[in-house]
Parts: sequence; structure tokens; C-alpha cells
Amino acid sequence: MSSVDLSLWDVAEPVAKALTYAVTLGAAGGVMFLGYTHAIVADSDRRRIRRLVGVLLVLSALASGARIAVTAGSMSGDIAGMFDRVFLRMILQTGEGRALAIRVAGLLLAALAVCANRRPSALALLGAIIAATSFAWAGHAQAMSPSTLPTLLVCVHLLAVAFWLGALAPLLVLVRDGDLSRMAAVTARFGAVAVFLVGVLITAGLGLLWILLGELSNMWTSSYGRYMVLKLGLVASLLGFAAWNKWSLTPRLLAREVSAARGLRRSIMCELFLGGLILLVTATLTTLTGPPALQ
Ligand code: HEM
Repeated sequence: MSSVDLSLWDVAEPVAKALTYAVTLGAAGGVMFLGYTHAIVADSDRRRIRRLVGVLLVLSALASGARIAVTAGSMSGDIAGMFDRVFLRMILQTGEGRALAIRVAGLLLAALAVCANRRPSALALLGAIIAATSFAWAGHAQAMSPSTLPTLLVCVHLLAVAFWLGALAPLLVLVRDGDLSRMAAVTARFGAVAVFLVGVLITAGLGLLWILLGELSNMWTSSYGRYMVLKLGLVASLLGFAAWNKWSLTPRLLAREVSAARGLRRSIMCELFLGGLILLVTATLTTLTGPPALQ
């Protein structure tokens, strides 16, 4: 955001981090989705969603490994450094190593949800929670003193993000299926919980911002704050689509309006795009800038 020379690594690191967020939070949210929609989703759709979650779980492990390699490359300044054992070991000894180990343990437990055609077990849901919150073990919140409250807020924030973003791809699977009454039942159930969880997401996010910003004026005077302004603008647009889904499209689906399904598909695609941009901005601000409260 300020006039700095961007290197290849300054682009590669946030992109790798954003991809890791997307597939991990998508997988965790997918497991939650399988849990609360089990009774209302058809067997064939459930199978497709389980397959999707399985792919996301594998991609999460691969993206997490690739991210560590990109960080090693960034530290050494050349591509060969990505595979340099000294750099890799150094990174694995930091909070990133701990976050990776916790994430992999969570992913393995969450994989239980894709092994059998039944409602995900408590253990699989616990795995999804562990994987989604694993990022909190290596972020800015950990560097704060005391770190308990900010870390807790990041965990709550991440869980709400996983619930919201992780439902979007499974919802697209249902839209493709074309059964309006099932689609309406699922969007109504998702919407009922989402209203509460979006409130939790925003409250936790604002609480965290208050702690990490130090002073309100830092929102305009620091790079961190300016990235946050960009993020909040994108979040406002995302909320617009979510409101359209809940208060316009879901009632029209319940009234069996065929055009509402097309609207829902378009709205979900826009939410996925905006969600991806928000993850990229978040990855950039957590990689390239530091919160004013830590300076
Ligand atoms: C009012 C809305 C929001 C506010 C105020 C907010 C604020 C924050 C803050 C202050 C952080 C900590 C950044 C740091 O460690 O320096 C954060 C982290 C994060 N936020 Fe948000 N956020 C909001 C909405 C969202 C949304 C809608 C998404 C997803 C689409 C999202 C995804 C994330 C992710 C993935 C992290 C990273 C956690 C980590 O790596 O430690 N946020 N957010």
C-alpha cells in the first residue's frame, strides 16, 4: 500500500497463505455443513460434498507444506532455498511449525467425516475446529502480551469464517442438483445460524482490530490500517450478498420460484470471489505488515 519495491516473494508468500486459508477453512466448514444438513440433503449430493471435502483436506495439507517452503525461499532469497533443510528446520521450530503440526492433526481427524456416509462424528467435528483455528498459533495475536484474549478472538473469528465460507461450495453442489424445496430447506437452515455467526465474526474481528491497532488514527496512518480499510470495504460487499441470499432469495426459493435458484448461484459465485479477495488481503496484511500495537 505504501511505495515499496515488491519482490517475487512478497507476492508468493501472501498468495500461498491465502490459498492455505481458503482450502483449510473450506474443508473445515464443509465438515460442519455435512453435520447440520445431514437429514435434509439427498444421498447423492452428500456423496459429492464428501468428495469435495476430501479434496480440500488433501489440498490443505499440500498448501500448508508449500507455504512453509515458500517462506524458506523468501528467507534465503532464492528458489533453491525452498528446499534448504536449514531454513525449513528453522521455520518448523517457530510458531509456524506448531501451527502446521496442529493443522495436520486436525485434518486427519476431520478426514473421518469423509470416510463413511453418516453424520460427521464429534471427533471429525473436533478435527475441523482444530484445523480451522490452527492459524491462531502463529499469527500477530500470539506476539501480543498477554496473548490469551487476542488468540481466543482469532479462534472465534476463524471458526465463524469457516462456517460461512465453507458452506458456499457445498451450496453450489445443491444448486446444481436443482431440487428447489431441498435447496430452500438448506439455505433456510444455513441462514438461521449464519445470522448469529456473522455477528460473532464481526464482533470478534472488531475486538481484535481494537487490540492490534493501538489507536484509531492508526487505521489511516499505518499500512496495516489501510489494508484493514480495504478488507472492511470488501467485507461490507460480502455482507450485501449474504443479506440478498437470506432476505430475498431464500423466501423466493421457499415459494418455489425457479429464477431464485439462478440468483442463488450467481450470488454464491460473487461471495466466493469476494471471500477469496478478503483472504488475500488478510494474508497480505498478516505477512507484509505488522499491527501498530506491536511496534
Ligand atoms: C468486520 C469484519 C472483520 C474484521 C473487523 C476483521 C478483523 C480481523 C483482524 C483484526 C484480524 C487479525 C489480523 C492480524 O493478525 O494482524 C483478522 C484475521 C483474520 N480474518 Fe478478519 N475481520 C473481519 C472479517 C473477516 C472476514 C469476512 C473474513 C473471511 C472472509 C476474515 C478472515 C480472516 C482470517 C482468515 C484471519 C487470519 C487469522 C490468522 O491468520 O491469524 N475476516 N481479522
